Amino acid sequence: MKRHEFLRELHKATANRNYLEIGVNDGRSLALSRVPSVAIDPAFKVVTEIKCDVHLVKATSDDFFARENPLVHLRGGRHPVRNLRRGRSPIGYWRRTSLDLSFIDGMHLMEFALRDFINVEKHSDWSSVIVFDDMLPRSIDEAARDRHTDAWTGDVYKLVEILNRYRPELVTVLVDTQPTGQLVVFGADHTSTVLQDKYDEIMTEFKVPDPQKVPEAILERVKAVKPETLVGADFWGPLVRARNRGLSRSRGWEPLRSALEGLSASR
Ligand SMILES: C[S@@+](CC[C@H](N)C(=O)[O-])C[C@H]1O[C@@H](n2cnc3c(N)ncnc32)[C@H](O)[C@@H]1O
Repeated sequence: MKRHEFLRELHKATANRNYLEIGVNDGRSLALSRVPSVAIDPAFKVVTEIKCDVHLVKATSDDFFARENPLVHLRGGRHPVRNLRRGRSPIGYWRRTSLDLSFIDGMHLMEFALRDFINVEKHSDWSSVIVFDDMLPRSIDEAARDRHTDAWTGDVYKLVEILNRYRPELVTVLVDTQPTGQLVVFGADHTSTVLQDKYDEIMTEFKVPDPQKVPEAILERVKAVKPETLVGADFWGPLVRARNRGLSRSRGWEPLRSALEGLSASR
C-alpha cells in the first residue's frame, strides 16, 4: 500500500474530527482531509484541490508552536468552558484542543521530528493518532542527514528507538508502506515532559554525522506490520467510541493498549 493510500485509510479508521499536518509541500496529503485542519510548511506550493476548512500556515513548525494558542482554528483551541460549577466565573477557564490525527512530515532530520512530536503531543491525548512519514529508509544513502539522493528520508527513523527507550508507555507501530514506511504512535500523554527534559541527552547520542548506521532491522523492515493489518484491526471502533464519549485515560487507554500490543506481537 502506498503512503497516501494508508493515510486515507487512517482518516477513515480514526473518524478524526480534526487534523494537523507538518510538511505540506504540494498538498497531496492535505487533500485527504475533510475536517477542520491546521497545516504548516514554510515553503508550501499547493497545487492540489483542498477540500477542508484549513488554517494553512507559512512558517516552520517550531515557530508555529511557539505562538500563543496555535490551534485556535480548531475551535476548542482556547475558549471559556461553559456550564461551570455554580458561582464560578468562566473567565480563566479554557478547554484544550486535542488532536485526533496528526501527520509529521516536515524537515527530515531527527531533531526536527523529535521537536515536532514533543509539540504535537502537547496538544494530544491517549486517543490521538500520530503518524510519522519516511521511517523506513531503504539505504544508508537515503537516510543521510546531508541530502544527496532524490528520494530522502533523512535520519528520522531514529524516532522509533528514541520513543521506545524514553517513552515505553507509548505504543509505536512501524508500518510497511511504500515507498519509505511510516510509524504510528498511540497513547500520547500531554503531561509528559520526559522528551523535553532529556532532549540534550538524546541529541548527544543520536545526532551524529553521516554515514548513519541504519540498523539492519530497519533496512529489512523486520518489525513493520502490513498497512492492511493495522487499518483493518478491531480496536478502531472502540477507540473512536471511547474518544467521542470523552473517556478518561484509565478507562479508555488500557483496553486499547492490550489490543495494540497484541497487534505488535503478531508481526
Ligand atoms: C516531504 S514534503 C511533505 C509532503 C506532504 N506531506 C505529502 O505527503 O504530500 C516535506 C515538506 O516539509 C517542509 N518543511 C521543511 N522544513 C520544515 C519545518 N521546519 N517545518 C515545517 N515544514 C517543513 C518542506 O517545505 C516540504 O514541503
